[in-house]
Amino acid sequence: MSLMTRLILVILVVATLLGGVMLFTYDIIKLEWVSFMEIQPSYRAMDNPLAVAANSIPFEGAAYIPGQGAPVNPIEADEVSVERGRVLFSVNCVMCHGATGEGNGIVGGALVNPPANLTGDVTQSKSDGTLFLTISTGVAGRMPALNENLTVRDRWDLVNYIRTLEPSQP
Ligand code: HEC
Repeated sequence: MSLMTRLILVILVVATLLGGVMLFTYDIIKLEWVSFMEIQPSYRAMDNPLAVAANSIPFEGAAYIPGQGAPVNPIEADEVSVERGRVLFSVNCVMCHGATGEGNGIVGGALVNPPANLTGDVTQSKSDGTLFLTISTGVAGRMPALNENLTVRDRWDLVNYIRTLEPSQP
């Protein structure tokens, strides 16, 4: 074999090997490779939050621990709290519950299970803590859990704001 032929052979072998590696590098042939970001317990956007580990206490405070019953509202319903609640409501809730809280928001109208009328007796007769828990954990299949989006303080401000809502047609 001449030197030239050997050289060409070597180049061919190396090119084939490199080409093979490239197929994997550029995902032309996909391998389920170990990805440490994926094998840890995690959840994607809009997944339900992971269950709270047994006996753990939320770092935001013992606002709600399973089995402890509804918490008591620690935030005074002063002007600041109600105003904060109003702003938070207009961002997080109006699309479903409507500007007046009567369940007639843009999205709410399209839902199979219509949002609650927050001005009605049914809701207003519930305790602050019960409303807080509903906002925190949502209602399965009907209302999203908002504890990931709103701090404990935010949720109490919303409860205080809901208390100020009145039916537009008594
Ligand atoms: C995706 C639409 C949607 C969004 C967003 C939403 N809700 Fe709801 N909410 C609902 C539905 C639907 C119900 C009624 C659930 C049922 O039928 O039991 C409900 C029920 C409630 C209840 C319970 C009323 C009761 O009488 O028990 C409260 C309180 C409440 N929502 C407050 C809020 C607040 C505060 C926000 C914003 C932080 C919010 N919701 C955001 C759809 C929504």
